Amino acid sequence: MRTLSASSLAAVIYEPLFNSVLRRIPPEQAHELAFKLLDPLAARPRPNRWLRGVTLPDDELLRVSALGLTFPSPLGVAAGLDKNAEHVRSLSALGFGFVEVGTVTPRPQESNPRPIIARIPEDRALLNRMGFPNDGSAAVLANLAKRPADAVVGVNIGKNRDTAVVDAAADYATAARTLAPHADYLVLNVSSPNTPGLRDLEAVANLKPLIRAVQAELAACAETADKPLLVKISPDMSDEDVDAAADLAVDLHLSGIIATNTTVRRDVLQTPPERVAALAWPEGGGVSGAPLKQRSLAVLERLHARAGDRLTLISVGGVQSADDVWQRILAGATLVQAYTGFIYGGPAWPRQINFELARRVWEAGAGSIQELVGTGGRPAADRL
Ligand SMILES: Cc1cc2nc3c(=O)[nH]c(=O)nc-3n(C[C@H](O)[C@H](O)[C@H](O)COP(=O)(O)O)c2cc1C
Repeated sequence: MRTLSASSLAAVIYEPLFNSVLRRIPPEQAHELAFKLLDPLAARPRPNRWLRGVTLPDDELLRVSALGLTFPSPLGVAAGLDKNAEHVRSLSALGFGFVEVGTVTPRPQESNPRPIIARIPEDRALLNRMGFPNDGSAAVLANLAKRPADAVVGVNIGKNRDTAVVDAAADYATAARTLAPHADYLVLNVSSPNTPGLRDLEAVANLKPLIRAVQAELAACAETADKPLLVKISPDMSDEDVDAAADLAVDLHLSGIIATNTTVRRDVLQTPPERVAALAWPEGGGVSGAPLKQRSLAVLERLHARAGDRLTLISVGGVQSADDVWQRILAGATLVQAYTGFIYGGPAWPRQINFELARRVWEAGAGSIQELVGTGGRPAADRL
C-alpha cells in the first residue's frame, strides 16, 4: 500500500510538473531544477532510506553479480546524465542499480556552443551535441571520494576536445590513472559523435593501442590492476566492425562492451528534418531514445552471438519500459542502462521498471534475473 501510494504520488506530481513547467524550459535547466529538488532530500539519511525502500525491492530477484560487483538491480543510469559524479546518491535513491558518471576528460572543459540538448517529443527522443562538458578528472575524483559506499559507480572517460586523435591514448591513460581508484568499473568512450575524431578510435587499428595503453596504466598500480575495463561503442558501426570490436575485446581480455551510444543517423526519426532543425539546430549531434531501440538491440544480439559470455554486455539505447529491459536481458545483456527513457518517464520510472521486472522474474519461476541472461535470443533470420 505504502509503495503504491509513493509511486502514484510521484506520477501525480511529475506528469503535471513535466507538462506545465519542465517541458517549457530548456532541457538542461529542467535537469538542474530536478536535481536541485532531489539532492537535498536524498542527502538526508531518513528520506534516502525511505526512498530506496520504495523504489528498489530488496531481494534476490533483481540482484546481479557481474564485473566482480553486486548490482541491486540490472537497470542503471547511462553516461552523460551525471557528468561530474554529483548526483549518485539521488539517482541511487530513485531505484537505479548503478550509475555511470562522465564522460570525464583529464582537463575541465566547456560544452559546445549552446543550445546543446533538444527534445523531439513526437519521437520520444533527444538530440544532443554536448561535447563532454565536465569539471575534469581531479574535480570528479574529489566528488567520487564522497560517494555513498553502497552505490555502484562506473566512470566513463574520454579525451579533451583539443587533444589530437594521435595523442588520445595519453588522455585516456591520465583519466584512468586519476579516477580508477574510486571507480567500480571504467569505460573507454570512443563513440560519442560530438567530439571531432573520437569515433576514429573505434577502428580496431586505433582501439588496440588505446586499450593497451590504459591497461598498462591500470596494471602499474596494485590498487587498480584488477579494475574492470569496458569499451562503449556506437550504433553506427557496420556489423563487421561490431564483430571486430567483440573479437578485440575478447583478445585483450576486456571485461565487457557497452552498446550503444547515440546515432548520427536522422532517418530513424519520424519527425521531419525541418521540424527537427526548428526544435534544435540545423545539423550535427546524436539522437537517443526510442529511434535507437532497434539498432541497439541488433548490436547487442550481434555481440552476444560473437562473444557469448566471454564479455559482460551492457545494453543501452531506446530502453523505455520493463519490456525493453526484459528483451535486452534475454538477448544477452547482463546489465541495461537508460538516459532518454528516464527523462521522459520521470522520477518514478526506475521504480516502475524494478517492480515490473521483479514480478516477471517471479512469474518465470527463476531465482534471479541473472538466470535469464541470454536465454531468449531471436533466430538470426528475425534480426535486423
Ligand atoms: C544529453 C545526453 C548526453 C550524453 N552524454 C554522454 C556522455 O558524456 N558519454 C557517453 O558515453 N554517453 C553519453 N550519452 C549517451 C547515453 O549514455 C546513451 O548511450 C544514449 O543516450 C542511448 O541511450 P538512451 O536511448 O537511453 O538515451 C549522452 C546522451 C544524452 C541524451
